[in-house]
Amino acid sequence: QLSFSGGKTGGRLLVVSNRGACTLRQTPGGLEIIPAVSGLVSAVEPILRREGGIWVAWGGRCGQEPGHLLPLPEGESKYLFAEVVLSSEEIKGFYDGFSNSIMWPLCHGFLEKVQFEENYWQLYRRVNEKFARTVVKMSSHNDRVWVHDYHLTLLPALIRRQRPVLSISFFWHVPFPPVELFATLPWAGEILRGLLACDQIGFHTESYVRNFLQAVEEILRARVDYLNSTIHWGGRKIRVIAAPIGIDWREYLTLAAREEIKGKAEQIRLALQSDYVLLGVDRLDYTKGIPQRLQAFSHLLTNYPWLRGKVALLQVVVPSRVETAAYQSLRQEIEKLVGEINGLFTTDYQVPVRYLYRSLTRQELVGHYLAADLALVTPLRDGLNLVAKEYVASKARGTGGLLLSPFAGAALQLKGALLANPYHPREMAEQIKRGLEMPLPEQQQRLSSMMRIIREQDLEWWWQQVKGMSNNAEQPEVAAND
Ligand code: G6P
Repeated sequence: QLSFSGGKTGGRLLVVSNRGACTLRQTPGGLEIIPAVSGLVSAVEPILRREGGIWVAWGGRCGQEPGHLLPLPEGESKYLFAEVVLSSEEIKGFYDGFSNSIMWPLCHGFLEKVQFEENYWQLYRRVNEKFARTVVKMSSHNDRVWVHDYHLTLLPALIRRQRPVLSISFFWHVPFPPVELFATLPWAGEILRGLLACDQIGFHTESYVRNFLQAVEEILRARVDYLNSTIHWGGRKIRVIAAPIGIDWREYLTLAAREEIKGKAEQIRLALQSDYVLLGVDRLDYTKGIPQRLQAFSHLLTNYPWLRGKVALLQVVVPSRVETAAYQSLRQEIEKLVGEINGLFTTDYQVPVRYLYRSLTRQELVGHYLAADLALVTPLRDGLNLVAKEYVASKARGTGGLLLSPFAGAALQLKGALLANPYHPREMAEQIKRGLEMPLPEQQQRLSSMMRIIREQDLEWWWQQVKGMSNNAEQPEVAAND
């Protein structure tokens, strides 16, 4: 009863990523389907819903049995979810190990956190092979395979071996580091060779594209055409493009206009008992700069004492990668800082930091966006950051400010935001103060300039950029970004 845009011979879309649209949990009452939350999922899911096809991903389950094949979304059957099940050894070595303790810190420039373990590499290869077997089983020669992120870099070459003419495209959702950093990875060559089996590779920014081109040139000695942003490798030509992910802004605009969501925002403001509300929404991750933001807030209250009792920081932290030590200690650090700031600056009626450690539904999220005067999106490093875009789209019909880190990919697009270096508490505090004091017409003007780009380069625009997934033989001579 599933309907795909193409039949078995019509070239279906096969999305492959580590995390899919949902996490599956086997309970005594049956299979529980829990929606997953991430930038990758919010961007890819609506596309697959519309195009139809298959999503091959790990469903978060640990075991040895074969994965489920489920029509999703539940009750609608727009696409098939082909679950890959991982053993506990694979989860430890491939996910907690290679993906989260090598690729993630390396790509974000945290070399001191990288654990170069040979065993992680062996399991990374094994799991990439496991995904490849599922993809080969599920695909026919003229399907279009679209692989995502640093978990599955070896997959394109593994698939290409068995499906030589298949169209394979890749999107890299995190920063691509400078070659000096990437070259520290003992398996850098294997990873680049894995990726170069694609027809096209997309990144969020031109600088990630540049870093990638330099890496393949210096590490693999591949022939790189910088002008046309293409790589010549193994008799094939690979197109590399910069295309920052967009959002479905209409959805946020619509939610923001709903009475119950506006009511929720009012409740939040009342509960905070503050003239000004600052908002942070982040997955618990050391790349997000949460302790640095808290320190900047403390600097603000210390150096501008008249703001005490008048400004609150509402910080939502979404639990993530709870098995990894670096994430456990970060949680402790954040909670200690929240306690210290509240201990120092709570007045009779007002608690300066309100801290939530949980995920929010999209409706709740928009309620929080609407309640804020200034959103603080201040990561130390971030591939793009969709919170910044969602916040602007939710606020577009009203007022509000955005303080952005220049180290988030989104800063290149959202020129109407205030910028502050997250490593510099004084600069952060000054920019927060500036954001709070900003006249309303200036807030509106900045929001509408950011909204213009969010509308122009939305999800549909992104899909048009990245879907240029043609077979290599037919690939036209084109420049990047056209
Ligand atoms: C980032 C990555 C995604 C990842 C997400 C959540 O957005 O680009 O690939 O899924 O973080 O991380 P997790 O480890 O929970 O999948």
